[in-house]
Amino acid sequence: MIDGLTIVSHPLVQHKLTKMRDRDTPTSVFRALVREIATLLCYEVTRDLPTELEAVTTPITDTKAPVIAGKKLVVAPVLRAGLAMAEGMLDLVPSARLAHIGLYRDPLSLEAVEYYFKTPEDCAERLVIVVDPMLATGHTATAAIDRLKEAGVTDIRFVCLLAARPGVEAVRAAHPDVPIWAAGLDEQLNDHGYIVPGLGDAGDRMYGTR
Ligand code: URA
Repeated sequence: MIDGLTIVSHPLVQHKLTKMRDRDTPTSVFRALVREIATLLCYEVTRDLPTELEAVTTPITDTKAPVIAGKKLVVAPVLRAGLAMAEGMLDLVPSARLAHIGLYRDPLSLEAVEYYFKTPEDCAERLVIVVDPMLATGHTATAAIDRLKEAGVTDIRFVCLLAARPGVEAVRAAHPDVPIWAAGLDEQLNDHGYIVPGLGDAGDRMYGTR
């Protein structure tokens, strides 16, 4: 295993990931699965958030019970494939703010090119969870994290559905302070930077564009 990488091995997550790998899974089902797995991954990535006791009056009596304390959350989808993941995260944490990071992979160099970046004003004081379904070469994830750090963000976590070992190693080398969560880890990339065996182009499969 790789230091800083958590693979969420829950059977529901693994089952859903396998359905996503199946090339015959239709677009609408694929999109729903992305959202569902993202919700389950959100549960894991927020597992260590601090809590504090709050006074509450039940129908029976006054008591104190835990609520989430500390930094507020930002979910930061990398456009466009991160959008369905962000929806799944918001299903669990509806009060989170959103930061949109527009990056595309240059098909020849495989480098990340930025075309949009918009964050909440107080982003630097928040915990930012970057979401992108595929961590392949690591170029896009590294660029997204670079950009957030330039904006002053210091507390960043990265969540993907499927990671490739070279990509995880690249992101961890560039940003050792950023932990990564994934539903699966594949060993290889092909010559076009796609994860093998992977699940194909997540954006195209989610939006039916190819
Ligand atoms: N992006 C994808 O959508 N799929 C891959 O396999 C790699 C990058």
